[in-house]
Amino acid sequence: MVNLPWSPDLPIRTPRLELRPHRSADLDDLLVYHSDPEVVRYIPWPVRDRVQTAAALDSRTRQGQVTAEGQWLVLAIELGASEEQAGRVIGEVLLKLDSTTDARGELGYAMTADVAGRGYATEAARAVLRLGFEEFGLHRIVARLDARNDASARLLRRLGLRQEAHFVRDEFFKGEWTDTLVFAMLAEEWEQRENPDGRAGHIPKAL
Ligand SMILES: CC(C)(COP(=O)(O)OP(=O)(O)OC[C@H]1O[C@@H](n2cnc3c(N)ncnc32)[C@H](O)[C@@H]1OP(=O)(O)O)[C@@H](O)C(=O)NCCC(=O)NCCS
Repeated sequence: MVNLPWSPDLPIRTPRLELRPHRSADLDDLLVYHSDPEVVRYIPWPVRDRVQTAAALDSRTRQGQVTAEGQWLVLAIELGASEEQAGRVIGEVLLKLDSTTDARGELGYAMTADVAGRGYATEAARAVLRLGFEEFGLHRIVARLDARNDASARLLRRLGLRQEAHFVRDEFFKGEWTDTLVFAMLAEEWEQRENPDGRAGHIPKAL
C-alpha cells in the first residue's frame, strides 16, 4: 500500500541535474522540445505551438506532487551548475501512481534533442526510480513505449528494466496501428542493482 500525498523534497539534485516543479518562466525552454516533431513522434503529444505549450506548462506547474491514484508527478529536468547552459530546462521526467493497492508506478520522460546522447535522461530517470522505490515504497515500476522507440528501449535497459511484453498492433496511434513494448522493474531488482551488498535496506519490509 502506498501512502499519499507524494510530496517529494524538491529539488532532487543529481551530479549534473536538478529535478524540480515546472515554473511559468520555463516556457521558452519547453517550446524547444514540445514543438519538435521528432521528440513527439512516439509520445501522445501533438506538435505544439507557443500557445499550446503554455497551456501544457500551466498544468505541469501543478504536477509537483501527487494526491490521488492515476496522477502523474511531472518534474522539470534543469541543467545543474556544473553544466554548460546551467539553469536551462532540457526535458521532463514523470512518475505515475498507477495503483496504490498494488504499489505500482509508471515511468516516463522526454528530452530536448540537442542534448541527447549525454546520459542526462538516464541520470534523471534513475533519480525518479530511486524516488519511487525508496521514498514512495513502490513495488513495481513499468514503462510503456512504441516498439520503434529504440532510444527509449536502450535507456530502459541501461537502467536495468526488463522487457516483459511486446503487444502487436495494439494501438491506433497518430494514424497507424503500432506495437507497444512493456518494460518493468521490481523493488527487489532495484535494491539488488543499486545496493548489491544489501546493507542499505531501503525497501520497506512490508513490501
Ligand atoms: C528517450 C530519450 C529521453 C532518450 O534520450 P537519450 O539522449 O538517448 O538518453 P540519455 O540522455 O540518457 O543518453 C544516453 C546515450 O548517451 C550515451 N551517454 C553518454 N554519456 C553518458 C553518461 N554519462 N551516462 C549514460 N549514458 C551516456 C549513452 O551511451 C547513450 O547512447 P546510446 O543511446 O547511443 O546507447 C529521448 O530520445 C527522447 O526524449 N525521446 C522523445 C520522447 C520519448 O520518446 N520519450 C519516451 C517515451 S516512452
